[in-house]
Amino acid sequence: MARQLPKIYVTRQLPEEALTPLRTCGTLSVWASDQAVSRETLLHELRDTGALLSMVTERIDDDLLDHAPQLRIVANMAVGYDNVDVPALTRRGVVLTNTPGVLTETTADLTFTLMLGIARRIGEGERRVRAGQWPVWSPFVFLGTDVHHATLGIIGLGRIGAAVARRARGFDMRVLYHNRARNKDAEEQLGCTWVDMDTLLGESDFVVVLVPLSPETRQLISTPQLKKMKPTAFLVNAARGPIVDPHALYAALRDKAIAGAALDVTDPEPLPADDPLLTLDNCLVVPHVGSASIATRTRMATLAAENIAAFLSGQRPPTPVNPEVL
Ligand code: GLV
Repeated sequence: MARQLPKIYVTRQLPEEALTPLRTCGTLSVWASDQAVSRETLLHELRDTGALLSMVTERIDDDLLDHAPQLRIVANMAVGYDNVDVPALTRRGVVLTNTPGVLTETTADLTFTLMLGIARRIGEGERRVRAGQWPVWSPFVFLGTDVHHATLGIIGLGRIGAAVARRARGFDMRVLYHNRARNKDAEEQLGCTWVDMDTLLGESDFVVVLVPLSPETRQLISTPQLKKMKPTAFLVNAARGPIVDPHALYAALRDKAIAGAALDVTDPEPLPADDPLLTLDNCLVVPHVGSASIATRTRMATLAAENIAAFLSGQRPPTPVNPEVL
């Protein structure tokens, strides 16, 4: 009797070229929308699913795993996996994979865009033009801050942080960073300088947050940290929303304790249209688009699918998060 192929459930529409390899190693079922699948539908689908290709919008926890007795692999289409309870998967012998590397340059581009955008008041300027309030050219009208030759402080200098630091060299910036473990490669190749957190906050013109979200980094930036920043400095969060305390940030921006903030990620997400942060001209917010280029999203989908295809054919998936279960 022919062996029954496992069901592979994909929680969002993906490029066909990414899905093709999955068609021969399982019975593919794809959520037919660009909107997130409901929890109820997801749990229902997981009753007989062997492999799940998920997004950051899905919470993968013990409750979900209780509904998924046949699940053997979760391929999360993101580099971050704070939406996944990794120990819960590991306890049950379920493999988790992510998509590191393929989104590094695209996310660094967006991080740099946020720095430039808030420093040169791009969101504010565009809003004024569209509202018919073009500020007539005048020597002191619509002045921003220079990014070139400024000091950049990167909290969390991993792959994406190093790609941001590389871009900063082209802008003749001085680059400081803070990591628990020193990144000697970045120091030698990119001229980055390790400093303690207080020095980074106190000396940087742009503080860029790029650490993963974990219990240790939740609200890493709150009132005491914002108070240490210069009143002329900008905060950029391109990592995860809950790393920055939104109430403390609102107060700091409102009181001009810092010059501005640019956020690709917020807490909560999506940010409601009536959130106080959106009343402030010195806050630039974009909707979690760090990796959102056509090429990069295709590469992420392909890598997530490759992880599943490799696992189901008995090979080691290329980018496991909990390799100990393999
Ligand atoms: C997106 O936020 C990711 O972690 O890849």
